[in-house]
Amino acid sequence: MYPFSRAFVNPASSPIRDLFKYLDDPEMISFAGGYPDPTLFDVDGLEAASRRAYGDSLSCLQYGSTDGIAKLKMEIIHLMASRGVATCAENLVVTTGSQQAFDLLLRVMVNDGDVVFVETPTYPMNILAARAQGARIVPVNTDSDGLNVVELERLLDAIRSDADRPKLLYTVPSFGNPTGATLSLQRRLHLLKLAVKHRFLIAEDDPYGDLRFGGDGIPSLQALTREVDGSSDWVVHMASLSKIVAPGLRVAWSISPLPIAHRCYVAKQSADVGSSPWTQGIAAEYLAAGSLERHLKSIRNGYGEKCRVLCHSLRELMGDALTFHEPEGGMFIWAKLNGDLTAAELLKECIERKVMFVPGAGFHAGDPDPTTLRLSFAAPSVANIKKGVKRLHDALETIRARV
Ligand SMILES: Cc1ncc(COP(=O)(O)O)c(C=O)c1O
Repeated sequence: MYPFSRAFVNPASSPIRDLFKYLDDPEMISFAGGYPDPTLFDVDGLEAASRRAYGDSLSCLQYGSTDGIAKLKMEIIHLMASRGVATCAENLVVTTGSQQAFDLLLRVMVNDGDVVFVETPTYPMNILAARAQGARIVPVNTDSDGLNVVELERLLDAIRSDADRPKLLYTVPSFGNPTGATLSLQRRLHLLKLAVKHRFLIAEDDPYGDLRFGGDGIPSLQALTREVDGSSDWVVHMASLSKIVAPGLRVAWSISPLPIAHRCYVAKQSADVGSSPWTQGIAAEYLAAGSLERHLKSIRNGYGEKCRVLCHSLRELMGDALTFHEPEGGMFIWAKLNGDLTAAELLKECIERKVMFVPGAGFHAGDPDPTTLRLSFAAPSVANIKKGVKRLHDALETIRARV
Protein backbone atom coordinates (compact mmCIF):
# COMPACT_ATOMS: atom_id res chain seq x y z
CA MET A 1 0.00 0.00 0.00
CA TYR A 2 1.24 3.52 -0.72
CA PRO A 3 1.78 5.79 2.29
CA PHE A 4 -1.16 8.09 1.54
CA SER A 5 -1.81 11.26 3.50
CA ARG A 6 -4.35 10.81 6.30
CA ALA A 7 -7.16 12.53 4.36
CA PHE A 8 -6.71 10.21 1.39
CA VAL A 9 -6.22 6.80 2.98
CA ASN A 10 -9.88 6.04 2.47
CA PRO A 11 -11.42 9.05 0.71
CA ALA A 12 -15.17 9.39 0.21
CA SER A 13 -16.14 10.52 -3.27
CA SER A 14 -18.97 12.92 -4.19
CA PRO A 15 -22.37 11.16 -4.32
CA ILE A 16 -23.21 13.18 -7.43
CA ARG A 17 -20.01 12.46 -9.37
CA ASP A 18 -20.49 8.74 -8.62
CA LEU A 19 -23.70 8.77 -10.72
CA PHE A 20 -21.96 10.18 -13.80
CA LYS A 21 -21.40 6.74 -15.32
CA TYR A 22 -25.11 6.48 -16.13
CA LEU A 23 -25.10 9.73 -18.11
CA ASP A 24 -23.49 8.05 -21.13
CA ASP A 25 -26.84 6.39 -21.81
CA PRO A 26 -28.67 8.70 -24.27
CA GLU A 27 -32.05 7.44 -23.00
CA MET A 28 -31.30 8.51 -19.42
CA ILE A 29 -33.29 11.49 -18.08
CA SER A 30 -31.24 13.04 -15.32
CA PHE A 31 -32.54 15.14 -12.46
CA ALA A 32 -29.19 14.45 -10.79
CA GLY A 33 -26.50 17.03 -11.55
CA GLY A 34 -26.68 20.76 -10.89
CA TYR A 35 -25.83 21.36 -14.53
CA PRO A 36 -27.04 24.45 -16.39
CA ASP A 37 -29.26 23.78 -19.41
CA PRO A 38 -26.88 23.64 -22.39
CA THR A 39 -29.63 24.92 -24.72
CA LEU A 40 -29.68 28.11 -22.63
CA PHE A 41 -25.95 28.83 -22.94
CA ASP A 42 -25.35 32.20 -24.58
CA VAL A 43 -23.14 30.72 -27.30
CA ASP A 44 -23.20 33.84 -29.53
CA GLY A 45 -22.41 36.18 -26.65
CA LEU A 46 -19.56 33.98 -25.44
CA GLU A 47 -18.18 33.53 -28.95
CA ALA A 48 -18.10 37.30 -29.47
CA ALA A 49 -16.52 37.82 -26.02
CA SER A 50 -13.97 35.14 -26.84
CA ARG A 51 -12.99 36.85 -30.10
CA ARG A 52 -12.58 40.18 -28.30
CA ALA A 53 -10.51 38.58 -25.50
CA TYR A 54 -8.22 36.92 -28.01
CA GLY A 55 -8.01 39.87 -30.38
CA ASP A 56 -7.23 42.55 -27.83
CA SER A 57 -3.64 41.46 -27.31
CA LEU A 58 -2.15 38.05 -26.74
CA SER A 59 -2.09 38.60 -22.98
CA CYS A 60 -4.80 35.99 -22.49
CA LEU A 61 -2.28 33.36 -23.64
CA GLN A 62 0.29 34.49 -21.10
CA TYR A 63 0.47 33.87 -17.33
CA GLY A 64 -1.71 36.35 -15.48
CA SER A 65 -1.60 37.70 -11.95
CA THR A 66 -2.51 35.17 -9.27
CA ASP A 67 -5.49 37.10 -7.91
CA GLY A 68 -7.07 37.69 -11.34
CA ILE A 69 -6.69 39.91 -14.40
CA ALA A 70 -7.40 43.61 -13.77
CA LYS A 71 -10.18 43.95 -16.33
CA LEU A 72 -12.16 41.07 -14.87
CA LYS A 73 -11.71 42.34 -11.33
CA MET A 74 -13.10 45.71 -12.40
CA GLU A 75 -16.14 44.05 -13.99
CA ILE A 76 -16.72 41.92 -10.88
CA ILE A 77 -16.62 45.08 -8.73
CA HIS A 78 -19.35 46.59 -10.96
CA LEU A 79 -21.38 43.37 -10.84
CA MET A 80 -21.13 43.19 -7.05
CA ALA A 81 -22.18 46.87 -6.80
CA SER A 82 -25.34 45.98 -8.75
CA ARG A 83 -25.95 43.28 -6.06
CA GLY A 84 -25.61 45.88 -3.29
CA VAL A 85 -22.03 44.99 -2.32
CA ALA A 86 -19.30 47.63 -2.31
CA THR A 87 -15.86 46.06 -2.65
CA CYS A 88 -12.47 46.79 -4.18
CA ALA A 89 -9.70 44.93 -5.99
CA GLU A 90 -7.67 44.24 -2.83
CA ASN A 91 -10.49 42.25 -1.21
CA LEU A 92 -11.14 40.23 -4.33
CA VAL A 93 -9.46 36.99 -5.41
CA VAL A 94 -10.52 35.46 -8.72
CA THR A 95 -10.61 31.68 -8.34
CA THR A 96 -10.90 28.58 -10.49
CA GLY A 97 -14.54 27.94 -9.62
CA SER A 98 -16.01 28.86 -6.25
CA GLN A 99 -14.98 25.35 -5.21
CA GLN A 100 -11.43 26.66 -5.13
CA ALA A 101 -12.49 29.78 -3.23
CA PHE A 102 -13.72 27.60 -0.34
CA ASP A 103 -10.71 25.32 -0.54
CA LEU A 104 -8.33 28.30 -0.25
CA LEU A 105 -10.32 29.68 2.67
CA LEU A 106 -10.09 26.33 4.47
CA ARG A 107 -6.35 26.21 3.87
CA VAL A 108 -5.73 29.64 5.35
CA MET A 109 -8.12 29.29 8.31
CA VAL A 110 -8.41 25.67 9.42
CA ASN A 111 -5.90 23.49 11.25
CA ASP A 112 -6.32 19.77 11.90
CA GLY A 113 -9.08 19.31 14.48
CA ASP A 114 -10.52 22.85 14.19
CA VAL A 115 -14.29 23.10 14.27
CA VAL A 116 -16.20 24.05 11.13
CA PHE A 117 -19.96 24.51 11.36
CA VAL A 118 -21.82 23.36 8.26
CA GLU A 119 -25.50 23.75 7.51
CA THR A 120 -27.07 20.40 6.81
CA PRO A 121 -28.06 19.16 4.30
CA THR A 122 -25.49 20.93 2.18
CA TYR A 123 -23.28 20.86 -0.91
CA PRO A 124 -21.28 17.63 -0.43
CA MET A 125 -18.12 18.72 -2.22
CA ASN A 126 -17.52 21.30 0.48
CA ILE A 127 -18.07 18.75 3.26
CA LEU A 128 -15.36 16.71 1.52
CA ALA A 129 -13.10 19.78 1.28
CA ALA A 130 -13.49 20.56 5.01
CA ARG A 131 -12.85 16.91 5.94
CA ALA A 132 -9.73 16.82 3.75
CA GLN A 133 -8.44 19.84 5.68
CA GLY A 134 -8.90 17.86 8.91
CA ALA A 135 -11.84 19.93 10.18
CA ARG A 136 -14.15 18.64 12.90
CA ILE A 137 -17.51 19.18 11.24
CA VAL A 138 -20.48 20.21 13.35
CA PRO A 139 -23.80 20.08 11.48
CA VAL A 140 -26.45 22.77 12.00
CA ASN A 141 -29.96 21.90 10.81
CA THR A 142 -31.92 23.79 8.18
CA ASP A 143 -35.62 24.06 7.33
CA SER A 144 -37.59 25.66 4.51
CA ASP A 145 -36.27 29.09 5.66
CA GLY A 146 -32.63 27.97 5.51
CA LEU A 147 -30.19 27.63 8.40
CA ASN A 148 -31.85 27.20 11.80
CA VAL A 149 -30.28 30.22 13.48
CA VAL A 150 -31.92 29.54 16.85
CA GLU A 151 -30.33 26.08 16.94
CA LEU A 152 -27.02 27.68 15.92
CA GLU A 153 -27.27 30.16 18.80
CA ARG A 154 -27.97 27.31 21.22
CA LEU A 155 -24.91 25.42 19.97
CA LEU A 156 -22.72 28.51 20.28
CA ASP A 157 -23.98 29.35 23.78
CA ALA A 158 -23.27 25.80 24.93
CA ILE A 159 -19.58 25.95 23.98
CA ARG A 160 -17.36 25.82 27.08
CA SER A 161 -13.88 25.40 25.61
CA ASP A 162 -12.02 27.55 23.08
CA ALA A 163 -11.07 24.38 21.19
CA ASP A 164 -14.76 23.82 20.40
CA ARG A 165 -15.34 27.29 18.97
CA PRO A 166 -16.01 27.24 15.22
CA LYS A 167 -13.44 28.88 12.99
CA LEU A 168 -16.10 29.27 10.36
CA LEU A 169 -19.63 28.40 9.32
CA TYR A 170 -20.40 27.30 5.76
CA THR A 171 -23.78 28.27 4.31
CA VAL A 172 -25.51 28.61 0.93
CA PRO A 173 -28.17 31.13 1.99
CA SER A 174 -29.82 31.74 -1.40
CA PHE A 175 -31.52 28.82 -3.15
CA GLY A 176 -29.33 26.35 -1.34
CA ASN A 177 -27.90 23.19 -2.76
CA PRO A 178 -29.55 20.73 -2.20
CA THR A 179 -32.63 22.21 -0.51
CA GLY A 180 -33.46 25.20 -2.74
CA ALA A 181 -34.25 27.02 0.54
CA THR A 182 -33.48 30.70 1.09
CA LEU A 183 -32.49 32.16 4.44
CA SER A 184 -35.03 34.77 5.54
CA LEU A 185 -33.97 38.39 6.06
CA GLN A 186 -34.59 38.14 9.80
CA ARG A 187 -32.38 35.05 10.06
CA ARG A 188 -29.65 36.71 7.97
CA LEU A 189 -29.45 39.63 10.39
CA HIS A 190 -29.51 37.27 13.37
CA LEU A 191 -26.69 35.20 11.85
CA LEU A 192 -24.53 38.27 11.26
CA LYS A 193 -25.01 39.34 14.89
CA LEU A 194 -24.02 35.86 16.09
CA ALA A 195 -20.84 35.95 13.97
CA VAL A 196 -19.84 39.27 15.55
CA LYS A 197 -20.67 38.11 19.08
CA HIS A 198 -18.97 34.70 18.80
CA ARG A 199 -16.20 35.78 16.41
CA PHE A 200 -16.51 33.16 13.67
CA LEU A 201 -16.34 33.64 9.91
CA ILE A 202 -19.42 33.11 7.79
CA ALA A 203 -18.43 31.51 4.48
CA GLU A 204 -21.32 32.65 2.27
CA ASP A 205 -21.46 30.53 -0.90
CA ASP A 206 -23.67 32.30 -3.43
CA PRO A 207 -23.62 30.67 -6.88
CA TYR A 208 -27.42 30.73 -7.25
CA GLY A 209 -28.55 34.13 -5.88
CA ASP A 210 -29.10 35.63 -9.35
CA LEU A 211 -31.39 32.76 -10.38
CA ARG A 212 -34.52 34.14 -8.68
CA PHE A 213 -37.67 33.52 -10.72
CA GLY A 214 -40.30 34.16 -8.04
CA GLY A 215 -40.87 36.12 -4.81
CA ASP A 216 -38.98 39.17 -3.56
CA GLY A 217 -35.20 39.54 -3.56
CA ILE A 218 -33.27 39.32 -0.27
CA PRO A 219 -29.81 40.94 0.01
CA SER A 220 -26.83 38.66 0.46
CA LEU A 221 -25.17 38.40 3.87
CA GLN A 222 -22.28 40.37 2.40
CA ALA A 223 -24.65 43.17 1.34
CA LEU A 224 -26.28 43.14 4.79
CA THR A 225 -22.99 43.64 6.64
CA ARG A 226 -23.66 47.39 6.40
CA GLU A 227 -26.70 46.89 8.68
CA VAL A 228 -24.87 45.03 11.46
CA ASP A 229 -21.94 46.78 13.17
CA GLY A 230 -18.67 44.88 12.95
CA SER A 231 -20.04 42.13 10.72
CA SER A 232 -18.00 43.06 7.63
CA ASP A 233 -15.00 41.56 9.47
CA TRP A 234 -16.74 38.20 9.67
CA VAL A 235 -18.09 37.45 6.18
CA VAL A 236 -16.31 35.84 3.25
CA HIS A 237 -18.51 35.94 0.16
CA MET A 238 -18.00 33.47 -2.70
CA ALA A 239 -19.69 33.83 -6.08
CA SER A 240 -19.33 32.20 -9.47
CA LEU A 241 -20.21 32.47 -13.17
CA SER A 242 -20.71 28.68 -13.34
CA LYS A 243 -24.48 28.59 -12.93
CA ILE A 244 -25.30 31.92 -14.58
CA VAL A 245 -22.94 31.91 -17.58
CA ALA A 246 -21.06 28.62 -18.03
CA PRO A 247 -19.24 26.26 -15.65
CA GLY A 248 -16.65 25.57 -18.37
CA LEU A 249 -15.21 29.05 -17.78
CA ARG A 250 -14.26 28.03 -14.20
CA VAL A 251 -14.45 31.71 -13.25
CA ALA A 252 -15.47 32.60 -9.70
CA TRP A 253 -14.28 34.85 -6.89
CA SER A 254 -14.14 35.48 -3.17
CA ILE A 255 -14.50 38.76 -1.32
CA SER A 256 -12.84 38.72 2.09
CA PRO A 257 -11.44 41.06 4.74
CA LEU A 258 -7.92 42.12 3.68
CA PRO A 259 -5.84 39.80 5.92
CA ILE A 260 -7.80 36.81 4.63
CA ALA A 261 -7.75 37.93 0.98
CA HIS A 262 -3.99 38.34 1.15
CA ARG A 263 -3.52 34.84 2.52
CA CYS A 264 -5.90 33.32 -0.05
CA TYR A 265 -3.79 35.03 -2.72
CA VAL A 266 -0.64 33.41 -1.32
CA ALA A 267 -2.38 30.00 -1.01
CA LYS A 268 -3.51 30.26 -4.63
CA GLN A 269 0.06 30.74 -5.84
CA SER A 270 0.89 27.17 -4.89
CA ALA A 271 -2.57 25.84 -5.82
CA ASP A 272 -2.61 26.79 -9.51
CA VAL A 273 -0.42 29.91 -10.01
CA GLY A 274 -3.54 31.69 -11.25
CA SER A 275 -6.89 30.96 -12.93
CA SER A 276 -6.84 30.75 -16.71
CA PRO A 277 -6.30 34.27 -18.14
CA TRP A 278 -7.98 33.03 -21.31
CA THR A 279 -11.34 32.30 -19.73
CA GLN A 280 -10.98 35.28 -17.39
CA GLY A 281 -10.56 37.43 -20.52
CA ILE A 282 -13.72 35.95 -22.03
CA ALA A 283 -15.62 36.55 -18.78
CA ALA A 284 -14.35 40.15 -18.59
CA GLU A 285 -15.45 40.91 -22.14
CA TYR A 286 -18.80 39.20 -21.60
CA LEU A 287 -19.53 41.26 -18.49
CA ALA A 288 -18.23 44.51 -20.05
CA ALA A 289 -20.63 44.10 -22.99
CA GLY A 290 -23.60 43.96 -20.60
CA SER A 291 -24.42 40.46 -21.85
CA LEU A 292 -25.03 38.98 -18.39
CA GLU A 293 -28.06 41.18 -17.66
CA ARG A 294 -29.73 40.06 -20.92
CA HIS A 295 -28.78 36.44 -20.38
CA LEU A 296 -30.12 36.39 -16.81
CA LYS A 297 -33.59 37.30 -18.06
CA SER A 298 -33.56 34.33 -20.39
CA ILE A 299 -32.31 31.77 -17.86
CA ARG A 300 -34.62 33.00 -15.08
CA ASN A 301 -37.57 32.48 -17.44
CA GLY A 302 -36.27 29.09 -18.55
CA TYR A 303 -35.56 27.73 -15.07
CA GLY A 304 -38.76 29.25 -13.65
CA GLU A 305 -40.84 27.38 -16.22
CA LYS A 306 -39.00 24.11 -15.65
CA CYS A 307 -39.37 24.39 -11.89
CA ARG A 308 -43.11 24.94 -12.21
CA VAL A 309 -43.45 21.97 -14.59
CA LEU A 310 -41.47 19.67 -12.29
CA CYS A 311 -43.45 20.71 -9.19
CA HIS A 312 -46.76 20.36 -11.01
CA SER A 313 -45.86 16.93 -12.45
CA LEU A 314 -44.63 15.68 -9.06
CA ARG A 315 -47.83 16.79 -7.34
CA GLU A 316 -49.97 15.28 -10.07
CA LEU A 317 -48.21 11.91 -10.39
CA MET A 318 -46.47 11.30 -7.07
CA GLY A 319 -49.26 12.75 -4.90
CA ASP A 320 -48.83 11.90 -1.21
CA ALA A 321 -45.74 9.77 -1.84
CA LEU A 322 -43.49 12.81 -1.78
CA THR A 323 -43.29 16.04 0.27
CA PHE A 324 -41.39 19.07 -1.01
CA HIS A 325 -41.31 22.89 -1.01
CA GLU A 326 -41.47 24.77 -4.28
CA PRO A 327 -38.36 27.02 -4.46
CA GLU A 328 -38.36 30.62 -5.74
CA GLY A 329 -35.09 30.21 -7.62
CA GLY A 330 -31.98 28.14 -8.12
CA MET A 331 -31.88 24.69 -9.64
CA PHE A 332 -33.10 22.24 -6.99
CA ILE A 333 -36.07 20.63 -5.33
CA TRP A 334 -35.48 18.78 -2.09
CA ALA A 335 -38.04 16.09 -1.42
CA LYS A 336 -38.85 13.47 1.19
CA LEU A 337 -40.44 10.10 0.52
CA ASN A 338 -43.32 9.49 2.87
CA GLY A 339 -43.06 6.00 4.28
CA ASP A 340 -40.27 3.46 4.68
CA LEU A 341 -38.95 3.36 1.13
CA THR A 342 -35.44 4.81 0.91
CA ALA A 343 -34.29 7.07 -1.91
CA ALA A 344 -31.44 4.61 -2.68
CA GLU A 345 -33.98 1.78 -3.20
CA LEU A 346 -36.11 4.00 -5.42
CA LEU A 347 -33.04 5.11 -7.40
CA LYS A 348 -32.13 1.48 -8.19
CA GLU A 349 -35.50 0.92 -9.83
CA CYS A 350 -35.38 4.37 -11.46
CA ILE A 351 -32.04 3.64 -13.15
CA GLU A 352 -33.65 0.55 -14.72
CA ARG A 353 -36.34 2.87 -16.05
CA LYS A 354 -33.78 5.43 -17.20
CA VAL A 355 -34.42 8.29 -14.87
CA MET A 356 -32.18 9.42 -12.04
CA PHE A 357 -31.85 11.80 -9.12
CA VAL A 358 -29.45 12.05 -6.19
CA PRO A 359 -30.40 10.31 -2.91
CA GLY A 360 -30.25 12.87 -0.11
CA ALA A 361 -28.09 10.89 2.31
CA GLY A 362 -24.82 12.16 0.82
CA PHE A 363 -25.80 15.80 1.42
CA HIS A 364 -26.11 15.38 5.16
CA ALA A 365 -23.20 16.58 7.25
CA GLY A 366 -24.76 14.83 10.28
CA ASP A 367 -27.10 11.85 10.50
CA PRO A 368 -28.32 11.05 6.98
CA ASP A 369 -32.05 10.87 6.29
CA PRO A 370 -32.30 8.00 3.77
CA THR A 371 -35.78 9.01 2.64
CA THR A 372 -34.65 12.37 1.19
CA LEU A 373 -33.67 13.13 -2.40
CA ARG A 374 -32.59 16.02 -4.60
CA LEU A 375 -34.09 16.69 -8.02
CA SER A 376 -32.61 19.29 -10.35
CA PHE A 377 -34.92 20.79 -12.95
CA ALA A 378 -32.17 22.81 -14.68
CA ALA A 379 -30.75 20.53 -17.37
CA PRO A 380 -33.62 18.36 -18.74
CA SER A 381 -36.05 19.82 -21.29
CA VAL A 382 -39.66 20.51 -20.29
CA ALA A 383 -40.76 17.45 -22.28
CA ASN A 384 -38.17 15.27 -20.54
CA ILE A 385 -39.14 16.62 -17.12
CA LYS A 386 -42.69 15.35 -17.73
CA LYS A 387 -41.42 12.04 -19.11
CA GLY A 388 -38.94 11.69 -16.24
CA VAL A 389 -41.62 12.18 -13.56
CA LYS A 390 -43.76 9.55 -15.28
CA ARG A 391 -40.79 7.14 -15.07
CA LEU A 392 -40.34 8.03 -11.38
CA HIS A 393 -43.99 7.28 -10.78
CA ASP A 394 -43.77 3.96 -12.65
CA ALA A 395 -40.69 2.98 -10.64
CA LEU A 396 -42.52 3.71 -7.40
CA GLU A 397 -45.56 1.70 -8.53
CA THR A 398 -43.34 -1.27 -9.46
CA ILE A 399 -41.78 -1.25 -6.00
CA ARG A 400 -45.15 -0.93 -4.29
CA ALA A 401 -46.54 -3.85 -6.34
CA ARG A 402 -43.69 -6.05 -5.08
CA VAL A 403 -44.51 -5.68 -1.39
C1 LIG B 1 -23.34 25.41 -3.47
C2 LIG B 1 -22.28 25.25 -4.49
N1 LIG B 1 -21.09 25.80 -4.26
C3 LIG B 1 -20.09 25.70 -5.15
C4 LIG B 1 -20.26 24.99 -6.32
C5 LIG B 1 -19.10 24.87 -7.28
O1 LIG B 1 -19.22 25.84 -8.24
P1 LIG B 1 -18.03 26.25 -9.20
O2 LIG B 1 -18.35 25.69 -10.54
O3 LIG B 1 -18.03 27.75 -9.18
O4 LIG B 1 -16.77 25.68 -8.63
C6 LIG B 1 -21.49 24.38 -6.61
C7 LIG B 1 -21.67 23.58 -7.82
O5 LIG B 1 -22.57 22.81 -7.98
C8 LIG B 1 -22.52 24.54 -5.67
O6 LIG B 1 -23.73 24.00 -5.85
